[in-house]
Amino acid sequence: MTPISLADDGDESEGDDGFEDMGEGLGTVSAWLLGLTLAYFGWKRALPGIRKHLKTTEQKDKLKQLNTWNKKVLPIHTLLGITALITGAAHGLMMDEGGFLLWTAIALMGLLSVSGGLMRWKWPPREVKKGARLLHMQRLMSAVVVVLLLVGHEMV
Ligand code: HEM
Repeated sequence: MTPISLADDGDESEGDDGFEDMGEGLGTVSAWLLGLTLAYFGWKRALPGIRKHLKTTEQKDKLKQLNTWNKKVLPIHTLLGITALITGAAHGLMMDEGGFLLWTAIALMGLLSVSGGLMRWKWPPREVKKGARLLHMQRLMSAVVVVLLLVGHEMV
């Protein structure tokens, strides 16, 4: 026979728990996506060194492969950034507690996505593109996002 303690350990808020669990899971997914989005920074720094090495050692096939892969890196950065924003916002909406710092981080991720988009799309005038590049590439905003997320999560 099943012991009573095991048979009756559920409560009425099981549905709520499931919702919160899913919210937490989305937060983890979003954190990974943001980390991978930021890895683009490291990739760009590493690329010239790898290229130089392959050129000096005359590994032409590998150099070709590297160039093919490199063409895919920016679209991947774009997709990762947008998905990090969407999953992060959904995570925030699903959790009971939030806070100004965390929503500011989401707003900045939105700004990064829009400025990144303006850099990539063909239509904006040169001035708009220049402004978007300035916003997106100075790295300070990316660093502020990470700090706000870390501090904001300590506070909830
Ligand atoms: C919220 C997430 C995002 C973060 C934290 C982020 C951060 C960064 C960082 C750190 C760099 C590298 C800057 C450097 O090399 O010094 C970068 C470059 C770039 N990002 Fe993002 N980004 C995000 C989303 C996006 C999105 C959604 C797009 C496009 C729609 C985008 C488009 C670009 C472009 C076009 C570059 C420059 C490419 C180049 O000239 O090499 N980013 N981003």
